[in-house]
Amino acid sequence: MQQHWLKLCIVSRGVEAEGIIAIVLAAPDGGPLPHFSAGSHVDVEIAPDLVRQYSLCSTPAARDRYEIAVLRDPASRGGSTEIHERFAEGDTLRVSEPRNHFPLYPVRGEALLIAGGIGVTPLLCMAERLSAIGAPFALHYCTRSAARTAFRDRIAASGFADRVQYHFDDGPDAQRLDPASLFSGAIAEVDVYVCGPAGFIDWICAAAGSAGIAPQHLHREYFSAAPIEPAPGGDRPFLLRLASNGQMIEVAAEESAAAALARHGIEVSVSCEQGICGTCITRVIEGQPDHRDMLMIDGNAEFTPCCSRSHSPVLVIDL
Ligand code: FES
Repeated sequence: MQQHWLKLCIVSRGVEAEGIIAIVLAAPDGGPLPHFSAGSHVDVEIAPDLVRQYSLCSTPAARDRYEIAVLRDPASRGGSTEIHERFAEGDTLRVSEPRNHFPLYPVRGEALLIAGGIGVTPLLCMAERLSAIGAPFALHYCTRSAARTAFRDRIAASGFADRVQYHFDDGPDAQRLDPASLFSGAIAEVDVYVCGPAGFIDWICAAAGSAGIAPQHLHREYFSAAPIEPAPGGDRPFLLRLASNGQMIEVAAEESAAAALARHGIEVSVSCEQGICGTCITRVIEGQPDHRDMLMIDGNAEFTPCCSRSHSPVLVIDL
């Protein structure tokens, strides 16, 4: 399975906030792009062998463009710095078709959208969608300071500005986000959507869990994963069985399932190799996956061969 790339041009690039640029991509002929829904992301090829995922923050109704916002993060694995320093208007780059592993679910009651920094990008798209359909929601947007807060003008000009609460790290204590009190009200019908740095997501999820919000109503998207820890005592080998022809493939303790498949000439598309982008998701027909990614929860009948393993000795997969 090969990644299907779109060749897109940078039609505009602008400073969105301190350390954050917004980039608008379009087809060279200005034609329509594949549809996406709120919460979607694309893979952007920054250089050969350097691909990063960015959430789309343009409105899905604008079929001729994709907009992404990129925070310059010197502590990152290099992609954002390259984009800030090298990408210019008129450049052409390869971008995947949008994928969505962070979708909006049917509205039951109120949606609480909680953004940490640049994690606002998919949530902004969701806020616009929820506003358009008249669904109740609130957006809590936490950043280090007003100067480092992207999309303030766009939010101010939107029809939902009064549903957005900013929380600045350098502001008075009274305006800081207190997730315990946020979740202390009626939570039975609440869906929480959170995106931001891993520590921020874990903080929100812990508070939501303590407040009794069920895991299926807690939706999250990570930008990057913490290093994947081996199982206590070390990872064990396991077998993959291909459902199409019964072929058995051994995954050694020190290799990924995707690498074992590639050794046998079976290419699974991979991108982040950290369990955050979903590019490699493969259906599981039998067996119990050991999810090491940031996407799945126990019980999912899919797994991510880039980083996940198996609890059962054999995993039958839909290949
Ligand atoms: Fe990104 Fe597997 S390659 S989740």
